[in-house]
Amino acid sequence: MTNSTTTTNSAANSAAKPVRKAVIPAAGLGTRFLPFTKAVPKEMLPVVDRPVIQYVIEEAVDAGIEDIIIITSRYKKSIEDHFDRLLELEDQLEAKGKSDEAKGLRQLADLAQLHFVRQGEALGLGHAIGTARNHVGDEPFVVLLGDDIMHRKAGVLKGMIDAYNQHQSSVVALMEVPQNDISAYGCAAANPMADRLVEVTSLVEKPAPEDAPSNLAVMGRYLFTPTIFEEIAKTNPGVGGEIQITDAMVSLLDREKLLGFTFSEGRFDTGKKIDYLRAVVEMALERDDLGHEFRQILSDIAKRENLC
Ligand code: UTP
Repeated sequence: MTNSTTTTNSAANSAAKPVRKAVIPAAGLGTRFLPFTKAVPKEMLPVVDRPVIQYVIEEAVDAGIEDIIIITSRYKKSIEDHFDRLLELEDQLEAKGKSDEAKGLRQLADLAQLHFVRQGEALGLGHAIGTARNHVGDEPFVVLLGDDIMHRKAGVLKGMIDAYNQHQSSVVALMEVPQNDISAYGCAAANPMADRLVEVTSLVEKPAPEDAPSNLAVMGRYLFTPTIFEEIAKTNPGVGGEIQITDAMVSLLDREKLLGFTFSEGRFDTGKKIDYLRAVVEMALERDDLGHEFRQILSDIAKRENLC
């Protein structure tokens, strides 16, 4: 069977199926957040009172995803534990009359159907996504990076799923960044389609600013037809010696249409220290139970530091 025949079948088979599954890669080494990540996964960094990956899972559930595959490693057992039942604690909370807290813990364990797949070696994001192949099967699926919080207001995942339902094509989240920052991201050249949608014409991983085809950066959310697994399997290590998802997407572009869903704010790369700090401040300010007091603290600090 030729490649193009396989593609047509694969795309056609998945086209009729709704997007039900999500893959959350969380097996990276987190070297930008050392020394914290020596013993604790960066996906477990607290943003106010819950770990980063909980925000990511809640976003997926909010967008209608039912089945979530988390890619972990032997160092990341605390992620599994966080979403498991903790009966002793639930009983103790009930006994102390803290039923709401006990209920909260039970709800956390029931958030979605979670499955854990190990990536034995951190060989790159493309490789991590590839380890979910058997579980995803012949269905379209979304990928949410486990250290990337996307604010609800940005509506990115829901917008991408709507775009898929309309066009039956893979979709990637794209955000405009300053030209000098583009070398930190996958970069897309694209033609406008409608509203926030563009059609991607080419992709390049971490280009030098002078070589970048645009300032549209690939940002933390992807929706793929299962054809991507065939392309990942053929992808060799690229930038940084890792199997890059961008390289697999370049091959995908030869076979299928790829759309971009554009957005301008609301993304926090919590694997990066400065963005993590911003996430904590923004999320704390939005909290009903903390926001008021925290705003006052920030205002006092701003005055003391002559920031306003
Ligand atoms: P990152 O590139 O941000 O993760 O990948 P990293 O490699 O841990 O980062 P640094 O540069 O060393 O700090 C984005 C997401 O993909 C996962 C990460 O856990 C993160 O959630 N990932 C990355 C994997 O699951 N496996 C990999 O081999 C690489």
